[in-house]
Amino acid sequence: MARAAPALVVLGCLFLAMPPALGEPVAPLVSWSEPQADTSGSRRQGAADDAAAAAAVPSRARRSATAAPCQPSSTAVDTAERLAKLRALMRQSGVAAYIIPSDDEHGSEYTANADHRREWITGFTGSAGDAVVTMTDALLWTDSRYWVQANRQLDCNSWTLMKKGEPDVLSIEKWLGKNLDRSALVGADSRMLSYNQWSTWDNYLAGLGGPRMLPIEKNLVDEVWGADRPAYPDTPITPLDVKYTGVAWQSKVEKVRDSMRASGNDLLVLSALDDCAWLLNLRSGEVPYTPVFRCYVVLGLDAMHVFIPAEKISPEVRSHLSDTGINPQIHAHEEVWTLLPQLSAAANSVALTTPVVYHTGSSYKLYKAVQPGKVKFIASPVLYMKATKNSVEAMGMRRAHVKDAVALIEMLAILSEEVPAGKYWDEQMVVEALAKLRWKQENSHGPSFDTIAAFGKNAALPHYEPSNATNVPITTDNLLMIDSGGQYSEGTTDVTRTVHFGTPTPVQVEVYTKLLKGCIDLASVKFPKGYTMQNLEIVLRAPLFSLGLQYGHGSTHGIGHFLAVHESFDYAYDVNFFGSQEPGYYREDDFGMRLENIVQVVPADVKFKSTTSFLTFETTTLVPYDKKLINTSLLSPDEIKWLNIYNQHIRIAVGPELIRQNKTKAYKWLMEHTQLIS
Ligand SMILES: *[C@@H]1O[C@H](CO)[C@@H](O)[C@H](O)[C@H]1NC(C)=O
Ligand SMILES: *[C@@H]1O[C@H](CO)[C@@H](O)[C@H](O)[C@H]1NC(C)=O
Ligand SMILES: *[C@@H]1O[C@H](CO)[C@@H](O)[C@H](O)[C@H]1NC(C)=O
Repeated sequence: MARAAPALVVLGCLFLAMPPALGEPVAPLVSWSEPQADTSGSRRQGAADDAAAAAAVPSRARRSATAAPCQPSSTAVDTAERLAKLRALMRQSGVAAYIIPSDDEHGSEYTANADHRREWITGFTGSAGDAVVTMTDALLWTDSRYWVQANRQLDCNSWTLMKKGEPDVLSIEKWLGKNLDRSALVGADSRMLSYNQWSTWDNYLAGLGGPRMLPIEKNLVDEVWGADRPAYPDTPITPLDVKYTGVAWQSKVEKVRDSMRASGNDLLVLSALDDCAWLLNLRSGEVPYTPVFRCYVVLGLDAMHVFIPAEKISPEVRSHLSDTGINPQIHAHEEVWTLLPQLSAAANSVALTTPVVYHTGSSYKLYKAVQPGKVKFIASPVLYMKATKNSVEAMGMRRAHVKDAVALIEMLAILSEEVPAGKYWDEQMVVEALAKLRWKQENSHGPSFDTIAAFGKNAALPHYEPSNATNVPITTDNLLMIDSGGQYSEGTTDVTRTVHFGTPTPVQVEVYTKLLKGCIDLASVKFPKGYTMQNLEIVLRAPLFSLGLQYGHGSTHGIGHFLAVHESFDYAYDVNFFGSQEPGYYREDDFGMRLENIVQVVPADVKFKSTTSFLTFETTTLVPYDKKLINTSLLSPDEIKWLNIYNQHIRIAVGPELIRQNKTKAYKWLMEHTQLIS
């Protein structure tokens, strides 16, 4: 994985290697000799695809719209009328093709239903994919994770599946170059495409002598969608108290201005939703699982403009943002398009943000709104500030993990009693029950992403999510993997535990112990400040490698403070960075397991002090491992010592909270599962 390149993708809480930008070829993280997770695709979580697992639906890919009628799957969506209306609008706009990407105008990882344009026009609900519609063709590009699902959902009489990543499948720009006239225009809403993506495509087409890309002011899919298009959630925008954030928004603004002075920019445009929410100490809930809201901040050295949905500019927001010194001006969200050109006219150097892991970077429309020659692309200065938590945020993150541990431990205690006793449980019941337990915790804002509860061979699919079609009962015959997290006013959590309610096989015990060994070894490592996961990852993977096994996804992601569960960061570790460490192993049609902790980067105590500071990790997640799955004779004395200290730490941190909440059964489970190991 390239450092500071958006070369990573998330599945649930899980992190996969991904292409730098839409449409670019991907090199897998490592090459596999065994079936593995697909490592290409979008940043987004795959929507629950039913039979993605097993079903081997024959591919209807690459069928031309003019070929003989095909047999659409019974689950296909009829989009003929939508397409006819779209084509009529395309004719009016004078474009031969129209591109519908999956992104929202802020390049977010998760998007609101109102932004599911590509999903609505195609019928395909997977979260990664780009559609192109011409007068005769309609094509969907998506990666291998979604091919089965796309075949089930696309009406093959209208749509052609373009299997992104297959050697003989053209990329979007090559397809456009090959199939359109040189003089043709390719329309798109330039808010929904990053500057990088737009220019990659348009530069390629310019090199051919046409066709060329053309920004279209109105979103044509929205025009067709009309009144049926869902509204954004009406969740208000509310201040997050300084007792949680630790720092007033005014101080954050001054810090960002310092960085602007240092980099010689007198105007900065922030478009990533978590950047805005963090800077302003405001939260809402417009995007699933993420307490953010549509927002741009245009910051000058002595002026500040905030653009948020007009209906959410409440007296509370106004009073929170009132400050006689900084005096921010609050505008309706879409006013950025009229005001930014004026503001940039008066500026010398305007900073727009480059892509990071979970944000596509500034849109092409933002780029075009700034006077030519004044744009400077920089990594968002908020990136580092947001990733390295202040002491109040760090304390909150730890507090959130105590409450979250109560919920998950309670769930595990219930399951470990009821499953062996023969009471019926299935994956979807676990998802629901666990969400309820989380909601009961103080200051809970619910789950931080779609819970993955995967039993048996379902767990062998790293991005599996239970749905009606795949849901299976949980028994004592195989492993259960639960990957879930919560949002709390104090912080965000993300944890994966794998458990067995019967007798695990020797192979399961051996592999689990190796994963645990990797977690312990990495958590114990001491390293110079500035090191990255890439530098350290071998420590996590080596124990599994020793068995000749591996996994096909990345091993870490940043995590927000009551913000995005996947938070972009610049990879170089510094004190109070919080992120995941998550090794896994997936054996097709058999079982899967993953262990995931959130860790905090802390100063390391080293024997020989120098000018270089050394760092290490402190494990923030407080949920015991499954003793049944640990073969202690495979652990070193130091590893056993680490495990005993960790268990003791869980007892001290979570035990009293379980007692305070009267959860005696869960407390008993905790005591049993944190006994001294030798
Ligand atoms: C799944 O099954 C439940 C219970 O039978 C039903 O209420 C629900 O509508 C189904 N969901 C979908 C997406 O089919
Ligand atoms: C634990 O590992 C040791 C060393 O590889 C092995 O001999 C033993 O059989 C294992 N025990 C179990 C219960 O799997
Ligand atoms: C715990 O139980 C005690 C005694 O029954 C009760 O007074 C207390 O309110 C309970 N606490 C919680 C958090 O439910």
